[in-house]
Amino acid sequence: MRFIYVALILLFSFTTLRSEIFKVVGPSLPLTAVVGEDLILPCSLQPNISAVGMTVEWLRLDQADSTVHLYTDHEDISKEQAVSYKGRTALFKEELLKGNTSLKLSDIQIYDEGTYKCLVKSENWFDDVTLDILAEATGSDPVITVEELEVSGGIGLVCESKGWNPEPEVEWLDSEGATLNAEVTQTHRDSGGFSVKHRVTVYNSHSNRFYCRVKQRHYMKGTEVIISGKKNTWPTSVISSNVLVSMFFREAR
Ligand SMILES: *[C@@H]1O[C@H](CO)[C@@H](O)[C@H](O)[C@H]1NC(C)=O
Ligand SMILES: *[C@@H]1O[C@H](CO)[C@@H](O)[C@H](O)[C@H]1NC(C)=O
Repeated sequence: MRFIYVALILLFSFTTLRSEIFKVVGPSLPLTAVVGEDLILPCSLQPNISAVGMTVEWLRLDQADSTVHLYTDHEDISKEQAVSYKGRTALFKEELLKGNTSLKLSDIQIYDEGTYKCLVKSENWFDDVTLDILAEATGSDPVITVEELEVSGGIGLVCESKGWNPEPEVEWLDSEGATLNAEVTQTHRDSGGFSVKHRVTVYNSHSNRFYCRVKQRHYMKGTEVIISGKKNTWPTSVISSNVLVSMFFREAR
């Protein structure tokens, strides 16, 4: 009798424990988000048991484990949440029933780029997964300024653009499409993304039309400058500066 009793208890604990064992899974490749858009950070339980009664915690690993979203005791706890995420996160409540603990992050910013952890805890089990987010931002239209260089007789052309993420490539081209080497190149990064500044010197033997192109994987912005003046009277004035913008097709996500 005693033996049956013990066996029943063992069987009972074994089945409850087993029913609580789950794996947390997410994407293995980084996700690319576009600044200003919304993104779903995928995370789910395997097997797909309900996570409604569990704790779901989304953390930012590269920022001292700050809390992105916390759900526990059947509710969202905003007290713990890092200020920069307030009002921008949500779990899919009906999906929690199916073990789907994905997070919706609205209005992606450049500083959202980083490593996130999705941690799911039940009473006697927990597991987590980490995922990386890349935030893509298209910068400002490039602006070209012209400097006269009296000593060498050339003209310095400076191309500047701000607000890119990741770092863009910058190219100076002449009217034949040949690349000109930039002499002075500066890249600067802050919370608003990458700013770039590239300078070239051109001489009157060259064409009088030049392009500065700033490009990323999906976008390119360019500005063209036309320098006026007869061959012997360089340096002279800029007669026109046009902005050319192209957008490449985005890959399906
Ligand atoms: C869990 O997944 C199985 C197999 O993919 C599916 O048939 C079942 O409907 C899912 N259960 C829930 C609650 O979504
Ligand atoms: C989880 O829910 C989100 C939002 O509805 C959905 O996009 C995603 O495909 C779901 N993931 C799984 C594994 O069902």
